[in-house]
Amino acid sequence: MKIQKLTNELEVDYDRLSEFYRSELDKLAEHYSPEELKGHKQKRTPEYFRGIIKDPAKSVDIVLSESGDLEAILEGVVHQDGNLKIADLLWVLANNKGKGLGTQLIQHYIEEQKDKADIVALTVSKTNTKAIRLYERLGFNYVNNLNENSLVYALPISEKGEQALKR
Ligand SMILES: CC(C)(COP(=O)(O)OP(=O)(O)OC[C@H]1O[C@@H](n2cnc3c(N)ncnc32)[C@H](O)[C@@H]1OP(=O)(O)O)[C@@H](O)C(=O)NCCC(=O)NCCS
Repeated sequence: MKIQKLTNELEVDYDRLSEFYRSELDKLAEHYSPEELKGHKQKRTPEYFRGIIKDPAKSVDIVLSESGDLEAILEGVVHQDGNLKIADLLWVLANNKGKGLGTQLIQHYIEEQKDKADIVALTVSKTNTKAIRLYERLGFNYVNNLNENSLVYALPISEKGEQALKR
């Protein structure tokens, strides 16, 4: 399996990428309200992904099948929070589930962020037990409730991050 990063050099059909992302979000209706999903979908236009490749804080990693079809995607963004750098894992989506694509994309993201950020953080719907099990297996710990539907999980990837999460 090959993980590829969206860059200027990588030839990708941005219309198909946006369609893939949106159709995978559509499958999450049991975990999110229609308004929430609509908001996430509206944001992921082809232009949005073209913008990401120009922004060093943002990243999109994709997995393509041998025939070039999109199979999985991970979107992340790094931001500063006080003296900490937080690598937010915004979404990980796999259409070919249970084949280890999600695991490998997340592990790849963690490794890549190790010299850039202190903590990898994510928000997950509390009903999404499959995703939660996967995150916990990869070492993420529950931090707090963002709201009544969403939980925040985090993984320290630096000494500073570890100290901050202990508090
Ligand atoms: C969450 C998600 C990204 C996980 O992706 P995935 O590629 O299916 O994940 P993996 O295959 O790595 O792991 C999922 C399960 O398959 C198992 N698995 C891993 N490798 C496997 C393999 N080679 N063959 C069979 N099963 C495998 C894992 O053990 C894991 O089992 P678990 O459910 O007991 O934890 C995927 O389910 C998805 O797209 N869900 C919808 C979107 C979503 O919820 N995203 C997260 C929002 S925060």
